[in-house]
Amino acid sequence: MTDVSEGVRLVWPGKHPIEVTGRYRLQSIQPAEVIKMDMPGRSMPLYSASMPNIPEDPNHNFLIQGDCREAMLALLPEYEGQIDLIYIDPPYATGGEFGHPETVGYSDRCVGADYLQMMYERLQLMHRLLAPTGSIYIHLDWRMNCHIRLIMDEIFGADCFQREIIWRIGWVSGYKSCARNWIRNHDTILFYSRNSRSFTFNKTYLPYREGYRRRDGRKPFGKGWPLEDTWNCSQEDRLDSIQIMSFSSEKTGYPTQKNENLLTRILETSSNPGDLVADFFCGSGTTLAVADKLNRRWIGCDIGKEAVSIAVSRLAGAVTFDIYRIVE
Ligand SMILES: C[S@@+](CC[C@H](N)C(=O)[O-])C[C@H]1O[C@@H](n2cnc3c(N)ncnc32)[C@H](O)[C@@H]1O
Repeated sequence: MTDVSEGVRLVWPGKHPIEVTGRYRLQSIQPAEVIKMDMPGRSMPLYSASMPNIPEDPNHNFLIQGDCREAMLALLPEYEGQIDLIYIDPPYATGGEFGHPETVGYSDRCVGADYLQMMYERLQLMHRLLAPTGSIYIHLDWRMNCHIRLIMDEIFGADCFQREIIWRIGWVSGYKSCARNWIRNHDTILFYSRNSRSFTFNKTYLPYREGYRRRDGRKPFGKGWPLEDTWNCSQEDRLDSIQIMSFSSEKTGYPTQKNENLLTRILETSSNPGDLVADFFCGSGTTLAVADKLNRRWIGCDIGKEAVSIAVSRLAGAVTFDIYRIVE
């Protein structure tokens, strides 16, 4: 395939390749150090023996509290080329705050050139961590999707771009529907593979609706409708965001939590049982909870102590895992 963006590069003031000055390693910590037990619904996880370094157990899952740049640098010696699927839902450079960053939520104030450099360095590390048949999904909105696509073309190669998925958030009401404009109602998920031709992809189908007939009147004989790159856009494909649902048993209170059925679709399609899945901006741990349910191994990371605390509680009892901080 022709490299449509050959020679095209996004530049910003101060753009530079990743510079590694320190040597980072992971240090295990006790759940009590991250869980605020006074918060409602919090419970202690099943916790395996504490280990000072990255464990050798291939079935090990772990959650890291800290900046994913340092976390990935600590992981690289053992995990280069080992991760089968990465999903990230990073900050979107909104310039605002989500929730109450000092309690539940995070600050999204890194914008412009600082945001691009922040993502540039971290995406380079993700590229190195991905397995030869691995894939990455990057969840964004209208603000940075085109910038990140150019950065991804530079790091991964434009031929490794697979799809731009449009995820319709759901019905819109209230002030959002008052805009004197087309009502905004979607996020963008960029899907790239590590290798342009060879990558895990379990094609997914939506079952035919009851009574559906082909144009010639006969019963359909296929597996269903193969999923398109527009999600939650038809009666058959219901994938509404939990943010627009008043009640959902999944809700953890984390302000930008994504729904599990969205992650289930991505994990079932782009990984297999036993594979290693990572989310380096994991927030409340949605990717990790789904990975656990689908028998994938996982690595999660978030800079926010409160996010990690929520993720720990959410995963408690589901699976055995360790929690780490990063030390230099
Ligand atoms: C949009 S939220 C992720 C929500 C998540 N998908 C969920 O379902 O809960 C983005 C997360 O990125 C985290 N974050 C921001 N900068 C980070 C960094 N440098 N390293 C790791 N996590 C970071 C924030 O604390 C926040 O929890």
